[in-house]
Amino acid sequence: MAATQTLAERADALEEQQIRALGDRLVTKSLLYNLADGNQSLGNGFGQGTGKQLLMGEDPRLPQMPEKPTLVDFFRYRFAPTQQHLLQSARLAKKNGLPEKMVLACLLHDVAVVGFIRADHGYWGAQLIEPYVDEEVSWAIRMHQCMRFFPDESVGYAYPENYVRMFGADYQLDPYIVAEYERARQHRWYMSGRMICVNDLYSFDPDVIVELGEFEDIIGRHFRQPEEGLGNDNTPSSHMWRTLRRPCNAL
Ligand SMILES: [Fe+2]
Ligand SMILES: [Fe+2]
Repeated sequence: MAATQTLAERADALEEQQIRALGDRLVTKSLLYNLADGNQSLGNGFGQGTGKQLLMGEDPRLPQMPEKPTLVDFFRYRFAPTQQHLLQSARLAKKNGLPEKMVLACLLHDVAVVGFIRADHGYWGAQLIEPYVDEEVSWAIRMHQCMRFFPDESVGYAYPENYVRMFGADYQLDPYIVAEYERARQHRWYMSGRMICVNDLYSFDPDVIVELGEFEDIIGRHFRQPEEGLGNDNTPSSHMWRTLRRPCNAL
């Protein structure tokens, strides 16, 4: 009970701190954020009747970003700190002698999980980085979404044991995943997508800490960082980076 009170007190203190940081502005939440709590609502989505201005621009509750943010800045200031899965997968890809651009693909394969939206993460992740990487890299990331469910004995890839734990032994694939896999299997880059699965470390070592710095050279050579900063540029995914930077802009 004491622990519960402490947590509740801490939550109150945090809320108060946030309110102070926000001045008198009201934070609106996207429907998606509320749907995640099983709540089909915009909350006080338009701030009607509150007499308050809505938060637009930088969110003082989140780490401040540089004016011209790079991919590495997003890793540091927006993505969840739980990044070892990506870093250790990339290190394994390097150890296995994959070409640099595929090491980058492994480094970014779950970028949507750690940095944006989990559902359909292969698709979101690919879309986010597509304008800045080799087409084969984003294709492979998109397709690992479906491929990871299908074994390929030719490269020693079995259905992941932890999927049985996570989704149950009787989990049935959605038809769109099966159809996508059938298409991917016929594609000239099939093996690139498959290499993501092979180097996708499901049970990474908690005692090994890989630093992002280990891959800054590869990022520099294979990620076309826009000079004006991710989100300040004009590509089909710039708006996604902007939303990640300022996730509670009212519009
Ligand atoms: Fe994944
Ligand atoms: Fe993964």
